[in-house]
Amino acid sequence: MRLEGKTALVTGAAGGIGRGIARRFAAEGAKVGILDLRAEACQLVVEEIAAAGGQALALAADIREPAAVAAAHETLRAAFGPITVLVNNAAVMPTGALHETSIADFDRVVAVNLRGTYLVSRALIPGMLAAGGGSIIHLASVTGLTGLPGIAAYSMTKGALIALARAMSTDYAAQGIRTNSVSPGTIDSPMLHDFLAAQSDPAALRQDFDAMHPLGRVGRIDEVANVCLFLASDEASFVTGSNYEVDGGYSSRGEQPQD
Ligand SMILES: NC(=O)c1ccc[n+]([C@@H]2O[C@H](COP(=O)([O-])OP(=O)(O)OC[C@H]3O[C@@H](n4cnc5c(N)ncnc54)[C@H](O)[C@@H]3O)[C@@H](O)[C@H]2O)c1
Repeated sequence: MRLEGKTALVTGAAGGIGRGIARRFAAEGAKVGILDLRAEACQLVVEEIAAAGGQALALAADIREPAAVAAAHETLRAAFGPITVLVNNAAVMPTGALHETSIADFDRVVAVNLRGTYLVSRALIPGMLAAGGGSIIHLASVTGLTGLPGIAAYSMTKGALIALARAMSTDYAAQGIRTNSVSPGTIDSPMLHDFLAAQSDPAALRQDFDAMHPLGRVGRIDEVANVCLFLASDEASFVTGSNYEVDGGYSSRGEQPQD
């Protein structure tokens, strides 16, 4: 098993992509902390993992709160030992062009997507240094690389996470902590389903999302989890400071004028 003997923390793991990453890590032998705001949903993921023969612990916490982050870290460390894998996956996505974004939404997306990532990383790094290394993965997005309308503040945070992974890689490489980011394109997930359900023609829009990716479809949660698994594992021992696009070619596509 590719993560045998490792303890991992996945934030935002009560649903969606985080749940998929946590389940995949547990199936590969990791003991996994399921951290999320949603306590009951955390517990359900723990039960799913246990039913599949894995080990996980529910950690209900708000990553905006330093004391809650510290408590979750200590609970996981006490239960499963030093944490050497961290996936900063929790995020919120307010919509709107910049002038339509309220100050409350702007502050919230920065507080969760950036300050939360900072707080959780800051809590775990001393333990990784003491353990001789680790792997930190920030869930970014293609919106951090290319412009997409209507999600300005969210996109700003995703670009910042790509930069943060690069910056952190230079700070910690000598001590064995690898830091990378993963940038999914559109993924078949509850986030996408909720977004589509709020639109006037969800079926037509879903087809547009599929067509937007050169591979001809949106991605699957397991396709994001596979890349996170690689980065978390010792197979990625020479990989740090990288951003992995998991986007079916979306961010590499150019346009040519038609005649
Ligand atoms: N779904 C996509 O198409 C897509 C595309 C590109 C990038 N991403 C990124 O992948 C990651 C996961 O996306 P998803 O679709 O699974 O999203 P999601 O909204 O389904 O899951 C996010 C999770 O984070 C949790 N969360 C939110 N605020 C929190 C807080 N303050 N403290 C603790 N937990 C908190 C939520 O409860 C939720 O369970 C995000 O970083 C997202 O930006 C998703």
